[in-house]
Amino acid sequence: MPSINDVTKLDIKDNIAILTLNSPPVNALSSSVREGLSLGIKDAIQDNNVEAIVLICEGRTFIAGADISEFGKIPKGPSLFEVQEGIENSPKPIIAAIHGTALGGGLEVALTCHYRIAVPSAKCGLPEVSLGLLPGAGGTQRLPRLVGVEQALKMVTTGIHLPSDKCLKSGLVDEIADEGRLLEDSVTFAKKIISEKRPLKKVRELNEKVIAARGNTDLFSNYRKSIARKTRGFLAPEYNIQCIEAAVNQTFDEGIKIERDLFLKLINGNQSAAQRYFFFSQRQVAKIPDVPKETEVYSIKEIGIIGAGTMGGGIAMNFANAGLPVTLVERNQELLDKGIGIIRKNYENTANKGRISIEDVENRMNLINGQVSMESLSTKDLIIEAVFENMDLKKEIFSQLNTVAKEGAILATNTSGLDINEIASITDRPENVIGLHFFSPANVMKLLEIVRGQKTSKKVISTSMLMAKTIGKTAALVGVCPGFVGNRILSQRQREANKLILEGALPSDIDNALFDFGFPMGPFAMSDLAGLDIGWNKETSRGETIREKLCEDGRLGQKSGKGFYIYDESRNKSSDPEVEKLIIDFSKNKQIKRRIIGNEEILERCLYPMINEGFKILEEGMAIRASDIDIIWINGYGWPVYEGGPMFYGNTIGFEKILEWLRKMEKEHGSDFTPSPYLEKVVEEKLNIFN
Ligand code: 3HC
Ligand code: NAI
Repeated sequence: MPSINDVTKLDIKDNIAILTLNSPPVNALSSSVREGLSLGIKDAIQDNNVEAIVLICEGRTFIAGADISEFGKIPKGPSLFEVQEGIENSPKPIIAAIHGTALGGGLEVALTCHYRIAVPSAKCGLPEVSLGLLPGAGGTQRLPRLVGVEQALKMVTTGIHLPSDKCLKSGLVDEIADEGRLLEDSVTFAKKIISEKRPLKKVRELNEKVIAARGNTDLFSNYRKSIARKTRGFLAPEYNIQCIEAAVNQTFDEGIKIERDLFLKLINGNQSAAQRYFFFSQRQVAKIPDVPKETEVYSIKEIGIIGAGTMGGGIAMNFANAGLPVTLVERNQELLDKGIGIIRKNYENTANKGRISIEDVENRMNLINGQVSMESLSTKDLIIEAVFENMDLKKEIFSQLNTVAKEGAILATNTSGLDINEIASITDRPENVIGLHFFSPANVMKLLEIVRGQKTSKKVISTSMLMAKTIGKTAALVGVCPGFVGNRILSQRQREANKLILEGALPSDIDNALFDFGFPMGPFAMSDLAGLDIGWNKETSRGETIREKLCEDGRLGQKSGKGFYIYDESRNKSSDPEVEKLIIDFSKNKQIKRRIIGNEEILERCLYPMINEGFKILEEGMAIRASDIDIIWINGYGWPVYEGGPMFYGNTIGFEKILEWLRKMEKEHGSDFTPSPYLEKVVEEKLNIFN
């Protein structure tokens, strides 16, 4: 079989050329793939026996896009444009045969083919927006010409992967092949095209669907409004819309020029760099150097959860959603009924919004079995404790589990910060004890911190990582230290925010600065949402902090209608002069002279100590890599992905500048700002922490 190069081969059967790409893992458009495509098409065109060409891929997928790892490097071989020109201008029909996913540049190649055929399980999409980009190889100009403007807007701004049946309906593909018979059906389709003398359909020449939207400015302004909340702060969605507008209002060539200009702006900007980094970090975090993928795992078929409160209920839903049976244990029947009632209500709310069916509600509820005895956990493969945050209670529970749980069961705690080694030491199987730190609401938040104790076995870690994948979480492995990684860093921001309101800022100044930076909400709004009384004790409260004072006044946050802010019935917040007075008086009593504090200072004070803490965490080995810290903060705490997480952001600012700032602050304000020795080393030796 003639090879074009090491990733492409050309095969001619009857009068049909079959150009096959095979470049694992995802047939991304690397320089050798582009070269193979270019040469293969040329050879097939030159061969007089060939009447049509089928472009098909081996492995798990059709071309999944440009090779992201080549971005920023000097391009080699033919450009993607040259490849596309060769395809589109071919005098012989070229058919893209799609399985897996045709994404980004991959779909853009398929869009220059004259016809497209896909198996039922295939999906097509232009997901560049998730990388802070727009389709830079004609996708924004060709897609609306095939599927219409509204569908194209949706695809480029959300990056959705459109399933085959919808691709057929919208005109994106011309034919559906039988599953598993893509090659045979593609060849048959090619022969049909030849025998019916079908034209060489060039998508760039189809204007009907874009002309239909010409002059319809409402369409675009309404669309912009509809996505404004979700896309706040991101550049790429807006640039994608501008390209589709160009497709509608300008010629194809003018549109391509606009697409190119905007693509270059995005690819050279910080946001896309951050989002591309996020793409690779999100995959990297699953890799644990001393626990390879092949490590043996326990089979997890039945789950037990202790405590049907806020966290236990949410955790149970994760497993039921994945079709796994859960036994939920409470202290008594009344609390159990209450906890299970809340789960049902949550499911019913989701069903009312049309996201799941009534049948789904019942199926999932049927998987959750309430119990009031620990003995009911004796057969479970994984048991997760989610009782109150109290070491004595947790130890009591684990010593019972030690007796009740079967051999090989994983014993997990959802503690937010207690010493897991101490909890494990109460059992005679500490190797089977691990922290599974879910985030609230546990059925919604993507992040799971998996906390490795001193003695946790590799098998237990490997099983936990796999389990996280099963329930759709992004897991990051962290070590035992107060607050683990996420909350440990959060406490830095909280401390500085609390100090800043005494020095002159108001809660709304700080929340607004962080909201504008890209967080969904600032620390004070977040505290109000969570409840100010978490960890507050009426008996021991002495009005020593603003928070204590607020709780003593019955201002417990959103649930009591007021906290740092005051809330209306729809939970819209506004600043409360009473709180402002309380804060100003508090400063006065503490003899702190208030001053005007600008946004820049707020960001430095809140964010730089977090970055410093990140270095301490790395130094202590509590996170495997800098990018894991960023994954935790993006998935668990709403750090804007286009700022890449605290460590990526620190690098953008410059670690040298941050170190200088910390040193200055340490001199003036003490040890809260003492730089991490690892940060000093990184700056001094110019080390790259992202390798
Ligand atoms: N470039 C380089 N590497 C890629 C890649 C790409 N486009 N897509 C995936 N990979 C790598 C991953 O990093 C991973 O590497 P690893 O095994 O070393 O960690 C490996 O391929 C497998 O990827 P996944 O683990 O994600 O595999 P899945 O089977 O879960 O998912 C996928 C496959 C749906 C194709 C998913 O990888 C994906 O969404 N890829 C990105 C698709 C994309 O964004 N394409 C657009 C690129 S930008 C573009 O095309 C610009 C153009 O408009 C000019
Ligand atoms: P919660 O108070 O809502 O629920 C705890 C539940 O445990 C209660 O329903 C209680 O009746 C039950 N319980 C207590 N003793 C028990 C026993 N001996 N047997 C069976 N059930 C018992 O508390 P929440 O918020 O769900 O927290 C649980 C754990 O999760 C804590 O360790 C907490 O630190 C941690 N966590 C909490 C988060 C949050 O945002 N609420 C986030 C992440 C972790």
